[in-house]
Amino acid sequence: MIADYDGGQIGLIGEIRVADIFRGCRKGLLCLTLFFGLATITAAAPPTPEKGGSERVLILGGTGQLGRAILSELSATNAQVSVLARANSDRTSVEALWPDRSRLQWLTGDLLNAEEIDRALAGHRFDVVINAVRVEDGDIHFYEKIMPPLLRNAQRAGVRQFIHHGAVGAGRNVEKFQNLGWERVPGIFDRLKDQGIGEDLLRGSGVPYTIIRNARLYPPEAPATGQAALTEDDSIITPMTRADLAKLTLSCVANAACLNKTFHVQDASLPWPMRRP
Ligand SMILES: NC(=O)c1ccc[n+]([C@@H]2O[C@H](COP(=O)([O-])OP(=O)(O)OC[C@H]3O[C@@H](n4cnc5c(N)ncnc54)[C@H](OP(=O)(O)O)[C@@H]3O)[C@@H](O)[C@H]2O)c1
Repeated sequence: MIADYDGGQIGLIGEIRVADIFRGCRKGLLCLTLFFGLATITAAAPPTPEKGGSERVLILGGTGQLGRAILSELSATNAQVSVLARANSDRTSVEALWPDRSRLQWLTGDLLNAEEIDRALAGHRFDVVINAVRVEDGDIHFYEKIMPPLLRNAQRAGVRQFIHHGAVGAGRNVEKFQNLGWERVPGIFDRLKDQGIGEDLLRGSGVPYTIIRNARLYPPEAPATGQAALTEDDSIITPMTRADLAKLTLSCVANAACLNKTFHVQDASLPWPMRRP
């Protein structure tokens, strides 16, 4: 589990200068320039399925906190949703989100078991895959293991967009975040290397992709600020809520502006370190 980015570890991970610039000069010209230059897609943008689309969407990690936030947004659309979950995953909170069960389908499989994934996805067609999985047990080869069977199946299933939630600092992106104290977080560099391998496998797969790198997640119950935006500036690290991440995710579904892009999220409205009640 990547608790190191989470609110629980706020003492360990310091602020980055670019985020300070955004926070400190919101009214100045420099900020205007930065915002127009960097912020491309905002959480306020309406998701395509709400406009009447009926994409077939496969959610990975749908029983998790981000996954449920994404499913909550999707429940208000016309999308046909499949959720891949392990046999022992707790499905009750997802089912509570979906009174209309005719648009929700469960598929069963452990992402670390390629045979189960092949079996679970065989014969299905999807337009979009959304990966909101989070690594368990600090497995430093997690993405290296799960991405090949997933991508093989995505190709076969005709997937036109694979939206992948990863982490700020993935692969060589870690070089942009020196002096944040990450070296004090055990195992973090191995996990970020694995995140980078997962991203590279996706980029090299030929499946059109959208990578959204997360960091500094507020607690799952934190409401959307409506201020979050996706940026291709990969030196950005600000806090974010899962509710905003879910809206940003939907704003990218079937959105050509998001294809084959790697985004960071910026939300200048959230303090970091997080203020605790
Ligand atoms: N939390 C952070 O600090 C942080 C920081 C940076 C990036 N992120 C990214 O944010 C996203 C979501 O994080 P979150 O905290 O909302 O997640 P979460 O609540 O911990 O949920 C994790 C999800 O992944 C599923 N999962 C884990 N291993 C699996 C496997 N082997 N096979 C199938 N499903 C598996 C879990 O299924 P079960 O229900 O069966 O457990 C669950 O649905 C992830 O993309 C993560 O990389 C998180």
